[in-house]
Parts: sequence; structure tokens; C-alpha cells
Amino acid sequence: MLDTQHQIVYLNGEYSPLCDAKISVLDRGFLFGDGIYEVIPVYKRHIFHFKRHMARLEKNLAAIRITVPFDRQQLLDIIEKLLTGDDQESVYLQITRGIAKRDHRFPDHTKPTLFVMTTSVTKQSKHGISCITLNDDRWQHCDIKTISLLPNVLLRQLAHDENTDEAILIRDGLVTEGAASNVFIVLNNKIITAPQGPFILPGVTRDIIIELAENAGLNVEQTMYGEQELINASEIWVTSSTKEIVPVISLNNRLVSNGAPGAVWEKINSLFQSHKQDLM
Ligand code: PDD
Repeated sequence: MLDTQHQIVYLNGEYSPLCDAKISVLDRGFLFGDGIYEVIPVYKRHIFHFKRHMARLEKNLAAIRITVPFDRQQLLDIIEKLLTGDDQESVYLQITRGIAKRDHRFPDHTKPTLFVMTTSVTKQSKHGISCITLNDDRWQHCDIKTISLLPNVLLRQLAHDENTDEAILIRDGLVTEGAASNVFIVLNNKIITAPQGPFILPGVTRDIIIELAENAGLNVEQTMYGEQELINASEIWVTSSTKEIVPVISLNNRLVSNGAPGAVWEKINSLFQSHKQDLM
């Protein structure tokens, strides 16, 4: 349960209870969704791949022309002050272009807003989730981790309306990613996932899985694949910083293979869990 009185968050230089952290209605994040966010997993105070998340954050800020308002060490200090030490928590951080008179073009001299909070994460079910396929009607810069998430929100809600957990998105007949995750399939003994590009978010979890699989001698292909290959896949997984690697056991109301997590998922998940342990 969210305890807004006792949970401490960081906003623009101040630490305060969540219920007291307030931004101006003129903040461009509020008015335009003009900002970037990051979600970083933390296990028992160990921040998971901080450098990779920072590299993506800095790249995203550059992509929307916000000058990075802090250095990595300052951000690390802020995050460490907010950690609760739970088995698994996630750091949410958001940077917007800041407060200015409402005008679409960038304001001339505005200080970016920086907000950081942590959220406790409950262990994901290992039994698997259900998904539906939906048309990927998002924009052409899905590689930018923008806070403008309305299309993703609508897609996830459509999945929820159909009693499923996640939407797997199809653009021009090809699988891109999930509404809030990357997607992997196993087909003919190959692990396949969409390549980096404008239509997927370069997930940190995705990159780690590819590296772990390749180091273990598994065959990984980063290539576009069609909806029919998704349907024919012997395994489907969705991946993200909060959910790690989740097997998909039902797609469009039909079981994936026999409706149980597959052997390749078992292997990758155990590699991922050992990798986490190694970093602790
Ligand atoms: N979302 N693709 C999309 C559209 C996402 O929103 C996410 C994660 C990912 C996976 O990226 P990573 O492995 O770096 O978490 C892929 C986060 C967790 C969120 O919005 O809460």
C-alpha cells in the first residue's frame, strides 16, 4: 500500500513525504508530457546496472534537448537516500523541461524538474501471464523513454479490458514490443527479439538477457518477425526492469505450447537470477 505520509521522495533539491511533493501546474511535464523517465531495479539496496540506466537516460535527455541537470554521483546519492532495503524495489525518476509560460516551443531559460521516488515491487508469478496482440499505433520514436505514455496506457488498458496482462504490439505485420515490456520468442531453437531501432525501447533487461544467452552459447537473433511467427513460437517472454523475464502462457486466448513456462525460459531465468546474485 502506498503510504504517502511516510514515504520520502526527492523533488528539485528537497526530500519530503510523498503527499507534500508538489509541482507547478505550469510544469511542462504536466502540460505537454515534455520529459524523460527511468525505472531502475534495486535488490536489497544493490542498484542493478546503474550505468546502463544512466547511459540511456543521458541519451534520451540529449534526444529531446534537455541539458542533464545533475551528474551521476549526485543522482546516486539521491537514490541511495531513498532506498528502503526491500528485497526488490524500483527507482522511478523523471526529468521534465521545467516550469514556463505555456508555449509549445522550448522556453529560453528554464531549470529542469527532477523527481525521484522508490516503489516496492512484489515478486512476479513464475506461472506466466496472458497477452493479446494489438496494433502498435504509437509514434516513430518509441526508442525515447518519454513520459508521454498515453498510447502505451491505452494499449495496456485494452489488454486489461480483455482480461489479459500485457499487449504485444504489431506494426505493419511485425512484432515490436509490449505496452511496457520487450518481447522475446523461441522458434526453431532460436531466441528471437526485435532489433533496436525507432520502434522499440532499448530495454536494459533485454540487453542483459541477450548477453547472458549468447555467453551461454544460445542462439540469439535480433531481427523483425511477423505475427505468424509469434503465434507459432514454442515460447514467448516479456521483459522489463520491474518484471524481469515473464513467460507468456496464453496468447489471444490460446495456450502457448502446453501453457507452462518453457525450458529455454527456465534456463534464461536461472542465468538472470545468478547474474543478480553475482552483482550483490
Ligand atoms: N517500462 N518497452 C517499453 C515500452 C517499456 O515501457 C519498458 C519498461 C521496456 C523494458 O525496458 P527495461 O528492461 O529497461 O525496463 C520496453 C518500465 C518498467 C515502466 O514504464 O514502468
